[in-house]
Amino acid sequence: MQYSSMVIHFMSGTGYSYRAATWMEEIASKKGITSKIHQISKYYKESELGDEAKNLVGVVFPTHGFTAPWQVIRYVLHLPHGNGKHAFVVATRAGSIIASIPFPGLEGTAGYLIALILLLKGYIVRGIMGLDMPSNWMSLHWGINLENSRFIIGRAKVKTDSFMKRIFEGKKTYRGIIFLILGLILSPVSLGYLVIGRFFLSKLFFASGNCTGCGFCARSCPVQAIRMVGSKKLRPYWTFACESCMRCMGYCPNKAVEASHSFAIGLYFVATLQVPSNVLNGLSKVISIESYFFFFLILLSYIYMLISFFAAYFILYWLIKIPLVNKFFTYTTFTHFYRRYHEPDTTLINIVEDKKSLSENEL
Ligand SMILES: Cc1cc2nc3c(=O)[nH]c(=O)nc-3n(C[C@H](O)[C@H](O)[C@H](O)COP(=O)(O)O)c2cc1C
Ligand code: SF4
Ligand code: SF4
Repeated sequence: MQYSSMVIHFMSGTGYSYRAATWMEEIASKKGITSKIHQISKYYKESELGDEAKNLVGVVFPTHGFTAPWQVIRYVLHLPHGNGKHAFVVATRAGSIIASIPFPGLEGTAGYLIALILLLKGYIVRGIMGLDMPSNWMSLHWGINLENSRFIIGRAKVKTDSFMKRIFEGKKTYRGIIFLILGLILSPVSLGYLVIGRFFLSKLFFASGNCTGCGFCARSCPVQAIRMVGSKKLRPYWTFACESCMRCMGYCPNKAVEASHSFAIGLYFVATLQVPSNVLNGLSKVISIESYFFFFLILLSYIYMLISFFAAYFILYWLIKIPLVNKFFTYTTFTHFYRRYHEPDTTLINIVEDKKSLSENEL
């Protein structure tokens, strides 16, 4: 099939998926195909997509927890009906280099899950691929250096070119079946990530003493998950809306965004206390809930975890205003010693949706 136009919906925390989307746009333009890339945001409006007869739709996004981020799942569920339009899906994933050997990431169910939703919405999915880009999970591991990043990005470009060439030639390309099988095996982990893991991770972020309260992180967050709070000096407060995309961490001008590992241990301890089962055991003495005990236990444990994350973080937020406490959490997190990084050629002007909210030097 000859395509005349294409729209790519992308989500990107630190610019890697954005970069892949721009390569696709370049290839399309060389083939004379009109194209547009459109950021997957909370504020999706159908009218934003324009009226042109776009006959090819791409969805490009990072893998989170061996599946697609909730933001992408929700967005694709809200896309208009496909009416037989062709589509392709690319999930970027954590490529790395260890002892000069490149290792692939694991996109798991990310690509195929989004493809399935597109299929159910009436799209014809012509291609699915996992694409190794440098891992941006900088709250978890030491950052990849620039040389290795460029190497991984170079390989990804070649892979993207060949994938898009096949799509434009009308050839079907379904890659990553082995990774899908692994993803299905790991699907309990992915589900855990979507229902609770991402909320846990959102509550590990805090600003170190380097923070100037400039609010840059809040203005550049793709899901408006940071609130600037305080009377004398404003400080960022991370809400549950955070998708752990790492943008705030990668782009903070003062390297002030940390993800506390010591707080993670404390949070895990508080969230796994036997409070829900003790409450239910007490209740079962008063009312008969034996037949639904397990159901209530799951429900109560979930609610308890969310409340304990919220409450513990709220306390942390006020405690870290004390310089000594802030220092303790700063120096007991590995992120303080990790490198900050993002796609080397991507500045915030490329990926921040509301560009007017940033000043010229911030862009
Ligand atoms: C919270 C989080 C979870 C991630 N989970 C995975 C994963 O399960 N598998 C994987 O291969 N990469 C994973 N990654 C790495 C990213 O998918 C990868 O680096 C991606 O290219 C980042 O793209 P972006 O800069 O466009 O957001 C994860 C990254 C983050 C921040
Ligand atoms: S961008 Fe950095 S310095 Fe500015 S408010 Fe956010 S954490 Fe603080
Ligand atoms: S708060 Fe930071 S990590 Fe979370 S979604 Fe916003 S920019 Fe990404």
